[in-house]
Amino acid sequence: MATIVKADNLEKVYRIGKVDVPALRGVSLAVQEGEFVAVMGPSGCGKSTMLHLLGGLLTPTKGRILVDGENLTAVSDAKRTDIRRRKIGFVFQRFNLFPTLTAEGNLRLAERIHGNGADDPDRRHEILRMLHLEDKMHHKPLELSGGEQQRVALARAVVNRPAIVLADEPTGNLDSENSELVLKMFRELNDRFNQTIIMITHNPEAAAACQRIIQMRDGHIV
Ligand SMILES: Nc1ncnc2c1ncn2[C@@H]1O[C@H](COP(=O)(O)OP(=O)(O)O)[C@@H](O)[C@H]1O
Ligand SMILES: [Mg+2]
Repeated sequence: MATIVKADNLEKVYRIGKVDVPALRGVSLAVQEGEFVAVMGPSGCGKSTMLHLLGGLLTPTKGRILVDGENLTAVSDAKRTDIRRRKIGFVFQRFNLFPTLTAEGNLRLAERIHGNGADDPDRRHEILRMLHLEDKMHHKPLELSGGEQQRVALARAVVNRPAIVLADEPTGNLDSENSELVLKMFRELNDRFNQTIIMITHNPEAAAACQRIIQMRDGHIV
């Protein structure tokens, strides 16, 4: 199996005014293509920071990140944005859907932004069917339950079939029934499309669904 995400000695220090806040203190990891990995650890230990670095949403203070062979830390901001759009889908705890667009409209927008202007109704409908949303595709976010909104957010993250899906507490706002459904969807996407998934979670049952658990504490992997 090939390594698809690799981080070497990542450090991240946030600066607030004159105060330095160290968030990552030397994190190294390698994730293989098609792996489904959970990241766990107490609040404030650096999980989101690490995920945002791996996805090119932030740049490290020190260290190197390779994503599918491309060095995120050695390219311009524009190039990093381009790599992110082509290779990575994000799912956040807050669903971040566009409130004025329907479920399908949110997917269509993701195609425009991340899919090189693709317009593929078949693929949109396939993913909506897979996430049991086919009869909800003309609904706007406020006309959907929390679990349905998160499934739309998941559909949006994967509609362009990114090699890597990064999820930051995707079940954090869901009840147990919806959490289970969303996790099942992640597993199915992982199985069917061999997408690599890195998921932050506080939920031991969610983590148990993954192939590997990365434990973090105080800016380190333990
Ligand atoms: N934008 C930011 N500016 C300053 N400090 C931040 C910022 N984001 C996170 N931090 C700090 O970095 C540390 C790690 O945060 P975070 O990565 O969000 O942890 P987790 O996701 O594990 O809760 C915490 O001390 C947090 O307060
Ligand atoms: Mg977090």
